[in-house]
Amino acid sequence: MIPTYNEKENIEKMLPLLENEVFPKIQNHNMHILVADDTSPDGTKEEVEKSIKKWSNIHLLEGKKEGLGSAYIRAMHYAMNTLNAEAVIEFDADFQHDPHDIPRLVAAMDQGYDYVIGSRYIKGGQIPKEWGLNRKIKSFFGSLLARIVLFTFSIHDMTSGFKLTKTSFLKQVDLDHLISRNYAYKLQILFEIVLLGAKVKEIPIIFYERSAGKSKMETNDIYDSLKVIFTLRLRESMRIIKFLFVGGTGFVVQIIVQESTIRTGLAIFLAMLVSSIHFPFLNVQNLGAVSNGIGAGFGAEAAIVSNFLFNNFWTFNDTRHLKQTSPFVIRAIKFNLASLLSIAIQTFAVYLGVRLFGENISLFSHSLPTRILILFPTIIFLVIPLNYIIYNMLIWKTRYLKHDKKTSTH
Ligand code: GDD
Ligand code: MN
Repeated sequence: MIPTYNEKENIEKMLPLLENEVFPKIQNHNMHILVADDTSPDGTKEEVEKSIKKWSNIHLLEGKKEGLGSAYIRAMHYAMNTLNAEAVIEFDADFQHDPHDIPRLVAAMDQGYDYVIGSRYIKGGQIPKEWGLNRKIKSFFGSLLARIVLFTFSIHDMTSGFKLTKTSFLKQVDLDHLISRNYAYKLQILFEIVLLGAKVKEIPIIFYERSAGKSKMETNDIYDSLKVIFTLRLRESMRIIKFLFVGGTGFVVQIIVQESTIRTGLAIFLAMLVSSIHFPFLNVQNLGAVSNGIGAGFGAEAAIVSNFLFNNFWTFNDTRHLKQTSPFVIRAIKFNLASLLSIAIQTFAVYLGVRLFGENISLFSHSLPTRILILFPTIIFLVIPLNYIIYNMLIWKTRYLKHDKKTSTH
């Protein structure tokens, strides 16, 4: 994919070079060129049309000038839906990227990588020597800041405009709701692709000075990038904060419902009904224990329902558009099953705690019930992390999705 805006001089050299010198070096793939031009007034389009007459694997997509991200998103949709591409390469028209590096990106994909970054900030990579110190510092620290805020330390070049992405991963990114439609679009795609668990490889590239024409990047794009990285970080943190808050309210709901089922007599009424049934292995004649158990069961289920509703309509509300999220009812059932697991963990922890320490533990010269004390570490270290992962992976499916092999063309 080559986005262009006033790149006539460059594209007229680039297309023949790709066709005659670069693509013949890639024998095992069917290469296409998709030019996304934003009705450049300099005649870029006419230049591309001339090449289309000569090479049938060149395609032209036209659009309004709405930013680099917009042009790329349009191109990505076209490459995935119309051309059925297995992978896409983001590439500049202005010879700042060496077209002869393309076979190296493709080779990395053939080795099994899903996301291959042409990197200026690893050994062997380089930024233009001609760049002033100011520009070098901006570029390097921009990348560093993004790495820190997004926790993507393993990636050294966060803003490279030269990369290959397997469409099996790109399809899982919600391209139509990106925060930025300008240069910063790439930070969000990178972040999401990494969260999706793609195998990432950086290969060194030399980033040259522009050969002709001028850069379209604006100072605004710096603020735009800052906005993208902090919005993404905040979104991620907000989810955890909301999730913890919902868990806290769930606990309150649990106690209220448990106590009211017991104190209104509903629990004992149900216990009497139960005691009239004969169970083979269960002694249900102890009305006190049975009614307390029933109360606890009601409380636990109330917490599950309340947690589910709050998480669904609040914590994970922004995942509604994700195609892979299951229907509401299925999600509710899955949530209940996942919650049964945490109830089981807590029951077992209490049982184990009481066996090991007895019914009471003395703490700061106070004797406190083990069944309550043991719940704190259990909930904090086991239940919360486990639930958070399960919710993200299986119920609202925000991430950690495994590569869907069926969408690949091989
Ligand atoms: N269709 C379209 N629409 N193309 C655009 C637009 C637009 O609004 N803006 C830029 N382009 C095209 C250019 O014509 C060029 O082919 C390519 O996108 C890169 O644009 P440049 O203006 O040359 O960007 P740059 O050199 O400042 O930035 C490059 O390096 C950055 C890292 O330093 C790009 O590769 C960036 O993506 C990269 O982050
Ligand atoms: Mn450029």
